Amino acid sequence: MKPKVLVTREVFDDVLVYLSLYFEVQSNQADIPMDADTLAARLSDKQGAVITLSDRIDGKLLARCPDLKAVCNVAVGFNNIDLTACSRAGIMATNTPGVLDDSTADFTWALILATARRVVESDTHLRSGLWKGWYLKQFLGADVHHATLGILGLGRIGRKVARRASGFDMTVLYHSTRQADPDVELACNPTFVSKDELLARADILTIHVPYAPSTHHIIGSPELAMMKPGAILINAARGGVVDDAALVLALTSGRLAGAGLDVFENEPALNPALVGMKNVVLTPHIASSSAATRHAMAMLAARNLVAALTTGKPPNLLNPEPSGDGSGQ
Ligand code: GLV
Repeated sequence: MKPKVLVTREVFDDVLVYLSLYFEVQSNQADIPMDADTLAARLSDKQGAVITLSDRIDGKLLARCPDLKAVCNVAVGFNNIDLTACSRAGIMATNTPGVLDDSTADFTWALILATARRVVESDTHLRSGLWKGWYLKQFLGADVHHATLGILGLGRIGRKVARRASGFDMTVLYHSTRQADPDVELACNPTFVSKDELLARADILTIHVPYAPSTHHIIGSPELAMMKPGAILINAARGGVVDDAALVLALTSGRLAGAGLDVFENEPALNPALVGMKNVVLTPHIASSSAATRHAMAMLAARNLVAALTTGKPPNLLNPEPSGDGSGQ
């Protein structure tokens, strides 16, 4: 008998076809989000799951899933998964690194340009029938070319963002937990600075760190107060790395000129004050969402699941030594 697996949200048809070669697949092509209770009930007789970042995998859920051996996230971020609880329960957890770097970097640039050059605000103005013709001072924005770009976090995505900056003749600074190797710096050409210097010098600050306790509100009131007056903040990383309430204050006071945000604290809710702000570009967590990349992510998660349940060695294993002592169940 084939092992039973669950795909928690809608995926591409060929991903289901591929999984069906190995598993008895229960899917959710109607794409109805599951609450914690429903998810636990649906997983209670499954050996594996393709999950998304809106599925919280923790000890409480795992205690109700005695047969579960692998959870495979369709995302590079994995703050929805309690890895310690997975390891304790002997459950492999995987993510989808690499396949979304370029698309996410592209979208970061979409946010940078849209925010600095007021694309959404002027589009709304025009559609509202308010445009009365050209005039000199209409929708004056900030130049991106020759500006200073600050990158907080020079991982795979941060590096791709840095490389794209060369076309805009920018000064590119970065701060990371440690300075990148010389060959990495050479390939994308940013200069390592302290976090304080990054905040003080960046005209545009873009964040590319994962969410973890150590990065919670890595940009909060103190950091926003250190930013250059009139700077722009971009977050296509994770909600919670920015203190959204503090950001609202910095935007309201005029300290920041604008923000481009793809991610929010407590998604899908967002701070209502952001909605009314013309100098903020808001998108619904779609930075990786090109058709090709979302397909690649789903397929990689499916491949991880097949490898996990057939060989015990999925390519993108996040917890290499699941203890399997059953103490989490
Ligand atoms: C999307 O946010 C991801 O982590 O892949």
